[in-house]
Amino acid sequence: MIRSAVRGIGSALPRRIMTNKEFEELVDTSDEWIVQRTGIRQRHVASDDETTASLGEAAARHALENAGLDPTDIDLIILATSTPNNTFPATAVEIQNRLGIHHGYAFDMQAVCSGFVYAITTADLYIRGGLAKRVLVIGSETFSRILDWSDRTTCVLFGDGAGAVVLEAAEGEGTIADRGVLASSLRSDGAQKEKLYVDGGPSTTGTVGHLRMQGREVFKHAVGMITDVIEDVFAKAGVTADDLDWFVPHQANKRIIDASARKLDIPEEKVVITVHLHGNTSAASVPLALAHGVAEGKIKRGDLVLLEAMGGGFTWGAVLLRW
Ligand code: ACO
Repeated sequence: MIRSAVRGIGSALPRRIMTNKEFEELVDTSDEWIVQRTGIRQRHVASDDETTASLGEAAARHALENAGLDPTDIDLIILATSTPNNTFPATAVEIQNRLGIHHGYAFDMQAVCSGFVYAITTADLYIRGGLAKRVLVIGSETFSRILDWSDRTTCVLFGDGAGAVVLEAAEGEGTIADRGVLASSLRSDGAQKEKLYVDGGPSTTGTVGHLRMQGREVFKHAVGMITDVIEDVFAKAGVTADDLDWFVPHQANKRIIDASARKLDIPEEKVVITVHLHGNTSAASVPLALAHGVAEGKIKRGDLVLLEAMGGGFTWGAVLLRW
C-alpha cells in the first residue's frame, strides 16, 4: 500500500516581531487583555519586501534541505493561502518558478485557517492516486495585509509566516511506508460566512478588503466543530486519544486549544503551543507549530501526530499521521 510519508519540514517568519505593547499605541487595548483572552504575546509582521510567495519559498527551501532533496525532485506544489501575491496566477506557481522548478504542476488551495489540513489531505490523495511522487505542501500567509489596523477586535490576533512539508510516496513493509497520513476528516458550512469573512474580493467590490470577525460567535462554535472531526479521524484510524504522541492544533486562541484538548482527554504535555509566539497565522499556523515541535525535539520519527484546524467559511478538519 502506498502511503504519503513526511520526508522534511521547514518554516519561515518575517524579520519583524511586533509585541502586544506596540498595539497599545494603535488601538484601545492592553498586553494584559490580549494575553488573558488569547495567549498571544507577539507575532511576526511582514515588511514591504516580504510576501506570501517569498515566505513560502523560504519555508519550502528549508523543508527541502531538511529532506535532503533538490527542488527538481518535487513534482507538485500545493500552497494553502488566503493572502496570495496576486488574484492570479496562483502563488504556488510563483513559488514553483522561484524554486527553479519547470516541470510538474502547482496550485493554491483556499480554506482559510483550515488550508493546510485541506492541502495535506489533497496531497495524500494525489500521491496515493499515482498523480505525484513528491509534493511540497506549503501554508503561507500575510494576514497583516488584510487587517483593519483600527479594529482592536481583530488586528491584535493575527500574524504572518509560512511552514512547509515534503510528502513522499512510500511503499514496502518496515520502511517509511509505516509512516505517513493515516486518516483525514474535512468539513465546511457556508451558512456561517458572516461570522468570519473578508469584506472585499475581485468579483464583488473589486478590492482586496479587510478581515471581519464576530469573535465570540466563532469561539462558541469552535470547540464542538474541532472535537467532531477529531473523533471522526480517531474512528477512521481505530485509535484513541491515549495513542497520541502529539496534538498540533490550529493556533488561534489558547483558550480554544485548552478547551478542545480537555474535551478530548489529551493531556497538556502532549499539546504543541506556538500561539504566544506567532499569533494566528491562518494556513501557516499548523505547519509552523509542527516545525516548532520538531525543532524543539518533541515530535520524533514514529510519533502519532494529530493536526486540526478551523477557520472562515466555516471550514474545519483534522489529519492523523505517523511522523
Ligand atoms: N482589547 C481590549 N478589549 C477588547 C479587544 C482588545 N483587543 N477586543 C475586544 N475587546 C472588548 C470587546 O469590545 C468587548 O467589550 P464590551 O464587553 O464592552 O463589548 C470585550 O472586550 C469582550 O469581547 P469578546 O469578543 O466577548 O471577547 P472574547 O473573550 O470572546 O475574546 C476573541 C475575543 C479573542 C476574538 C475570541 O472570541 C476568539 O478567539 N474567538 C475565536 C477566533 C478564532 O478562533 N477564529 C478562527 C480562526 S481565524 C480564521 O479563520 C481567519
